[in-house]
Amino acid sequence: MWNALRTNVIRKPNIPKWLIAAMAIMIPLSWVPLALIAYYRTVPHRKPRIHFFQDMDNQVKYKAQAANTLFADGRAMRPPIEGTIARGRLMADEHLEHGGPIVEGKVQWADGYPATIKVDEAFILRGQERYNIYCTPCHGAAGYGDGMVHQRAVQLESSAWVQPTNLHTDDLRGRKLGDLYGTIKWGRRTMPGYASKIPTDDRWAIVAYVKALQLSQNAVAADVPEDMRPRLRQE
Ligand code: HEC
Repeated sequence: MWNALRTNVIRKPNIPKWLIAAMAIMIPLSWVPLALIAYYRTVPHRKPRIHFFQDMDNQVKYKAQAANTLFADGRAMRPPIEGTIARGRLMADEHLEHGGPIVEGKVQWADGYPATIKVDEAFILRGQERYNIYCTPCHGAAGYGDGMVHQRAVQLESSAWVQPTNLHTDDLRGRKLGDLYGTIKWGRRTMPGYASKIPTDDRWAIVAYVKALQLSQNAVAADVPEDMRPRLRQE
């Protein structure tokens, strides 16, 4: 009985040799897809990933500037209906929006601020902040046309570079406010316009700060309030 039991327990499992050989090949092969998945998930590729679950990621639609034969003019993008104005785009105040009234399609630069703009200390400080963000890189913190971008362009001996205008020349100090505003909005010659980055009121705030900068570089003792004059250093 003992013998019989022993042979039963210890007897080698009766697995056919071909099956062992097949498993020896199949098991490592089964790792290949896993390795490929891991590889494609982690290494950047030129082509987009295979996208099994589409959800709503890809839909039939017309993209900007695409053609569409449904309309007579063949454009998928529809122009606004004549006479409609989008919210916030009324632009009825030409002085505020353009820097002056439009006469025969041309802006006549106005001098002075639009009626809706109130120039106080907070407004000028706002202008200072915006100027330091948008204008300093080229015109320099004090407005002499010596910002970091200019310095770098000189260092690179860039032949295409035009020096940003010094804002303290007599010419620039005599400019109408609308003219300065227009330069910020549309740019001038090689200077790009900032209409898309600086909203209308901020453009006027920057104008106010440029005027403050100009005053700061050309002030005389009489410009200082009387009670502060004793604090001026005599030179
Ligand atoms: C990318 C650099 C750059 C930035 C930023 C820049 N400017 Fe200029 N700006 C120039 C250059 C260059 C000129 C000279 C253009 C020319 O003469 O071709 C100029 C000219 C001007 C002039 C004189 C225009 C004229 O009528 O001659 C004013 C005023 C001015 N900039 C104001 C500003 C203000 C305000 C800002 C900030 C909102 C600003 N600029 C931002 C490069 C810049």
